[in-house]
Amino acid sequence: MQDMLTRDMFTVMNQDNQTISIKSATPDEAEIICDIRDRAWIDAYPNPELGISPRDIEINAKGLHGEFVPKRIAWFKGKLAKNDENWICYTAQINNVTVGFVIASTEDDGKKFINSIYIEPNFQGKGLGTMLMKKALDWLGSEKGIYLEVLSYNQNAIDFYKRFGFEKTDTVVPQEEGAPDYIKSLPQIEMVLKRP
Ligand SMILES: CC(C)(COP(=O)(O)OP(=O)(O)OC[C@H]1O[C@@H](n2cnc3c(N)ncnc32)[C@H](O)[C@@H]1OP(=O)(O)O)[C@@H](O)C(=O)NCCC(=O)NCCS
Repeated sequence: MQDMLTRDMFTVMNQDNQTISIKSATPDEAEIICDIRDRAWIDAYPNPELGISPRDIEINAKGLHGEFVPKRIAWFKGKLAKNDENWICYTAQINNVTVGFVIASTEDDGKKFINSIYIEPNFQGKGLGTMLMKKALDWLGSEKGIYLEVLSYNQNAIDFYKRFGFEKTDTVVPQEEGAPDYIKSLPQIEMVLKRP
């Protein structure tokens, strides 16, 4: 096992001799980050009991004809190119291939968020989410509560967050306003990691 910590990158060798790296995302990762999110959504979010099909999730992620995809990539590229001190995206690589990311942010009033965390479905359950989460929590600091929203039926993710001390709040997460009719609204809960 070999660890290396540079200014912006943490690298560790796993037992299969693969190099795992966690680092700040760069604009050239925008496309793969968006693709990982879409594939993780389509893998994790359908729910037949609630009438939420894989196609519903694909439409939510990409639009009816994939029209959201290039817009999101362009937006993301711009966001990653800016040096925004209140917003961070870290990515995880296995042998230099990006397979996951986390986004965290601080609002003007100081409220802190985990905005999203997604691991490519084939690489889930290998500790990458934990590494990314630790990095994001370090960046957010320990002075104030940290909030996130998660689908109410996404029990894997809820259990994952609970491991870090997050708990459900009483806040009712409002449905997104102004979305086109073909976007399926999905039930969400809010969780908080209370500090100190
Ligand atoms: C939730 C997610 C970010 C966790 O990342 P991960 O790399 O898979 O999690 P880790 O390997 O670090 O697992 C941490 C622990 O949670 C458990 N766990 C996490 N995801 C799991 C899954 N999908 N199935 C079973 N167990 C899981 C692991 O067993 C592990 O426990 P251990 O440390 O005792 O072995 C990732 O699974 C994911 O992207 N899921 C789909 C998308 C999603 O729901 N994102 C969150 C949106 S709010």
